[in-house]
Amino acid sequence: MLGTAAGGGLPQWNCGCAGCTTARRTHAARSQDCLAVSADGAAWYLVNASPDLRGQLLAAPELAPAPGTRDTPLRGVLLTSGELDHTLGLLTLREAAGLTVHATLPVRFALHSAFPVGPLLAPYTKAGWQTLTPGETVELAGGLRAQPLALGGKRPRYAADLPGEGWEGRPDWVCGFRFTAAGDRASAVYAPGLAAWTPELDDAVTGADVVILDGTFATDDELAGDTGGTRTSRGMGHLAVRDSLPHLAARPGPRYLYTHLNNTNPLAHPGSPGTGALARELAAAGAAVAEDGTLIEL
Ligand code: MLT
Ligand code: MN
Ligand code: ZN
Repeated sequence: MLGTAAGGGLPQWNCGCAGCTTARRTHAARSQDCLAVSADGAAWYLVNASPDLRGQLLAAPELAPAPGTRDTPLRGVLLTSGELDHTLGLLTLREAAGLTVHATLPVRFALHSAFPVGPLLAPYTKAGWQTLTPGETVELAGGLRAQPLALGGKRPRYAADLPGEGWEGRPDWVCGFRFTAAGDRASAVYAPGLAAWTPELDDAVTGADVVILDGTFATDDELAGDTGGTRTSRGMGHLAVRDSLPHLAARPGPRYLYTHLNNTNPLAHPGSPGTGALARELAAAGAAVAEDGTLIEL
């Protein structure tokens, strides 16, 4: 897990809240949501490309090029959304000899129009864009299989007014993945943005070894309480931890981790006041908060 914070990271550059201040003092930082996944330990795929990507890559020895080469172990990028915290890092990859980016149709379109990463990268690297279709498994290098799951219709703010029709209300603006290794040796679900607990997610979670879920907010009214605003977690396309926990408790088996934690989420700050009861419920459901740099071997 290369990064476990929501957009802005922890501490957020312009935030002096108690959590960000403590994180500054204790260097308990979280970088923005990003995962690297591999089925054979040799061919790796990024899931999302965070604005913190350069530092995240340098901190992961598995992702270093072999000495004397420019042969990166990265074989491509899979996107769970077109949000800036998941896509700004694509520009950081412009030195690549070639770059394959897998994204759902609306995300691909947004990245060639409102936020034109595709055209911007073209003069720098040979980028190949592949369309992900929910339910259709993609075969990747090293025996990795990725099955995209449609998880929500929330589109990035920059893409609110895309040209053309049919973008509104599509359920695949946000997706998750069920990863398996060839021969079904192991499986992992990655869903850092989750608007609601869907039947497709239920299927994906069944039999998975590890499930990594949206932990943006602890409670639905967290942001309203912190900023006095009216935005709810659900309204922003994020099912709060408090509301996904009952689903975990009802589906024991996998190891559950929460990621994409916003800096307002008390669970992002170990030992912060008010987390006691919720942290105990997490533990009871076999769940924990993910940490930057965690290596999960299945
Ligand atoms: C989200 O996860 O909802 C977005 O990344 C929010 C944002 O940073 O604009
Ligand atoms: Mn985000
Ligand atoms: Zn803060």
